[in-house]
Amino acid sequence: MKVTVIGTGYVGLVSGACLADVGNDVLCLDVDPAKIKILEEGGIPIHEPGLHEIVRRNVEAGRLSFTTDVEKAAKWGVTQFIAVGTPPDEDGSADLKYVIAAARNIGKHMDAYRVIVDKSTVPVGTADKVRAAVAEELAKRGSTTEFSVVSNPEFLKEGAAIEDFMRPDRIVVGAEDPQAIELMRQLYAPFQRNHDRLVFMDVRSAELTKYAANAMLATRISFMNELANLAETLGADIELVRQGIGSDPRIGWHFLYAGCGYGGSCFPKDVKALIRTGSEHGHDLKLLGAVEAANEIQKHVLVDKIVRRFGEDLTGRHFALWGLAFKPNTDDMRDAPSRVIIQELFKRGATVAAYDPVAMQEAERIFGDEPRLSYAGRPKSTLDNADALVIVTEWKEFRSPDFEAIKSRLKQPVMFDGRNMYDPALIRAEGIEYFGIGRG
Ligand SMILES: NC(=O)c1ccc[n+]([C@@H]2O[C@H](COP(=O)([O-])OP(=O)(O)OC[C@H]3O[C@@H](n4cnc5c(N)ncnc54)[C@H](O)[C@@H]3O)[C@@H](O)[C@H]2O)c1
Repeated sequence: MKVTVIGTGYVGLVSGACLADVGNDVLCLDVDPAKIKILEEGGIPIHEPGLHEIVRRNVEAGRLSFTTDVEKAAKWGVTQFIAVGTPPDEDGSADLKYVIAAARNIGKHMDAYRVIVDKSTVPVGTADKVRAAVAEELAKRGSTTEFSVVSNPEFLKEGAAIEDFMRPDRIVVGAEDPQAIELMRQLYAPFQRNHDRLVFMDVRSAELTKYAANAMLATRISFMNELANLAETLGADIELVRQGIGSDPRIGWHFLYAGCGYGGSCFPKDVKALIRTGSEHGHDLKLLGAVEAANEIQKHVLVDKIVRRFGEDLTGRHFALWGLAFKPNTDDMRDAPSRVIIQELFKRGATVAAYDPVAMQEAERIFGDEPRLSYAGRPKSTLDNADALVIVTEWKEFRSPDFEAIKSRLKQPVMFDGRNMYDPALIRAEGIEYFGIGRG
């Protein structure tokens, strides 16, 4: 099938590459010429494990190509996936300007039946807006070409995106038009060979499903974070509590880790957008308001601990920081807790030496020529002259560090572990002063 993917970011590039890998002819469109240039030259503008190889393979096979030409893109695929960003607007609602611009471009140039697939995370009712935008553009040029709008939210996780796309838990499709349903069934058939993962529903339910999933996961994290803070005061250990409840199959193990807050390109903005959708329709989603408030508090928990240990004025203090990305296996720093932590340390007069396996370039882009922030090529190199080590992202390579080096290279052996990576008793036995999250 000929497929167009509009927006070549995390979701668009992964979707395009995986759809090409099963034999489709995919054209990826982006309005950012720099991104398309990198891709045309054989590079990859983001870090996602396995993505480079799959892109290379499909470009070489002639099944995957890139363009900035909106007319060519609209005329290419019978399915047109919209995978552009939906960042939060000032009031927290999802800003749909990129989605609507993409829809208008399709309407301006399409010359045959199209299934327009909303893959971006968009509020309930967006499919209607996309339909109206396309219809308006068609009407302007007197065209009666038929089209259908489908909701197909994406559930991939950055860092495991290829695996998630290739072997999805479920594929949610909100569609009413039988022709569009049949096309979606054909397109996704290669991804569900051992059992049917397609869940068909009406468009509005599909749009809400995506927000429901992210809001539920964010809720679990904030719940555990609040309990962690309480556990600390009560002298209980949240890690033991986690094991005690995770073993209950009604609760399960996932997303029960206490830490220094959730971030990334999805949870913060999707929780905000769902709260906004609720209030626009007269529903005050109190639980999600609390989830968000708890997360804001949690992003400051590590700095609060640092202040309790070193005092409010951190002038002249220097900190080693491990992990900039909002989670491991990605270079994404959108809404990452590291950004809040670094700014809060700067505000109190401190300097920071940071290390991250893949996100340092992204940090340089965000912080620019910030003289208070330096980068090290290896985790150990951040430690020299630092007053303490602060761990913000649970990268695998931090799991078993050289504790001897941590002890000898820091000015004094103090560690703030924002991801509960270590057993406090073991670290203390190493002679390191240890502060975790909710560890009694
Ligand atoms: N990143 C994730 O893990 C993830 C997971 C599931 C769903 N989503 C959702 O998918 C959507 C995309 O997220 P992302 O992280 O891939 O975003 P991204 O910012 O990485 O990529 C979006 C791309 O769209 C391009 N773009 C903007 N307007 C365009 C237009 N009119 N035509 C063509 N290209 C255009 C941008 O230049 C950019 O390259 C969002 O709604 C997001 O909430 C993201």
